[in-house]
Amino acid sequence: MPCPFHSHQPDPFGEARRKDGVLVNEFQGTPIPMLLRHEDVRSAAKNWQQFSSDAPFKVPLPTEENVRTVRQLPLEIDPPAQQEYRELVEPFFNRAKLPGVIAQVEGLIDSLVGQALSRDSIEIVREFAIPLQSRALACLLNMPQSEAEVWIGWGMHVFREGDGGRKGSALEAYANGLLDQAAAAPGDDFFSALTLARFQGRALTREEMLGYCSIVFAGGRDTIINSISGVIGHLGTHPADFEFLRADPRRIVGASEEFFRVLSPSTHLARLCPAGAKIHGVTVEPGHFVSLNFAAANYDETVFESPEEVRLDRRPNPHVAFGFGPHLCLGAPHARLVVRSLIKALCDRVARIETLEAVDRYENEASYRRRVAYEKLAVRLTAR
Ligand code: HEM
Repeated sequence: MPCPFHSHQPDPFGEARRKDGVLVNEFQGTPIPMLLRHEDVRSAAKNWQQFSSDAPFKVPLPTEENVRTVRQLPLEIDPPAQQEYRELVEPFFNRAKLPGVIAQVEGLIDSLVGQALSRDSIEIVREFAIPLQSRALACLLNMPQSEAEVWIGWGMHVFREGDGGRKGSALEAYANGLLDQAAAAPGDDFFSALTLARFQGRALTREEMLGYCSIVFAGGRDTIINSISGVIGHLGTHPADFEFLRADPRRIVGASEEFFRVLSPSTHLARLCPAGAKIHGVTVEPGHFVSLNFAAANYDETVFESPEEVRLDRRPNPHVAFGFGPHLCLGAPHARLVVRSLIKALCDRVARIETLEAVDRYENEASYRRRVAYEKLAVRLTAR
């Protein structure tokens, strides 16, 4: 029997992946071949000389030259400088593994679930996932929770929702303000750490600091929001899966990985081919781009048996939802903390999730249409 979750989320890349290995899609008037196979995505992700990230504004697709003025760090640069930029902030991202931070995030999720239970119904995307993403990020960055209230107002995406250009410059002005405050009176938050950091024996420039701020605010936003609504939507429509997790909480870690694989919140990211490339018969001219399609790789049937089925006990699960190689997502420990704590709180406190209204969210492109969680998800939670 087909899984109902996937009856409305078929793999849009399956046919092209099996037949050709690549799918060319036109992004902003430029044809870009997307690599679809697990093996191809992993080997290109490691081969930064041929598939380079040294392309400011052009690693995300659609490109972002109209919505920001700074190169995102360490995303849009190659090793070895990328590794140095990465090491500067890695301790902050690894705060997600500290018992104190884990307890804080668990506490805030517990309180959001408590509030949701006290209401007749709740719209998960706007009233639950966005506040949760913003407040959890404040924990990670060691910022006061009051600051998260500002971030909640940014909506689903800091650039792509509403007037991107205006929102992008407002975001940079806001980040500049945080950095000014931090430089004047450094504390123990992320922005202060940037003002104090040393890179190759010098302080970071303001532009570099803004490059980190940009990815911290933009990169981990819709990805986390879609993970949260995707998990709640699935458990609501699959009570047997909900029971399976409740029966043994040790299953939550593996189940979270399966959710990241199935949801693949970051569909793909681009790479520049400075010397060109030839992939499965498709020629990429020097200076042109390809994309690494993580979502397609995560449904590669040569690696994942019945990839369209959500198997919460899938093992092994070598998904590439967080990328692969030198740019492996720095926010992954945080994303895992949020999703695991969410599932745990739902198992502990919620007996039933009733879906009242579900409006799917789509990525619409000329050569594919991919479902990415929800635009709107209204549910009623019943306490245990
Ligand atoms: C489910 C949530 C998330 C997903 C699916 C995701 C996905 C990804 C992917 C696929 C990459 C690889 C980029 C590449 O190869 O070009 C990446 C890199 C990155 N992500 Fe995430 N991400 C998530 C959450 C976050 C969060 C919450 C943050 C920050 C708070 C974050 C910060 C970063 C950074 C800084 C990089 C660049 C690492 C580097 O270039 O060395 N991500 N992410």
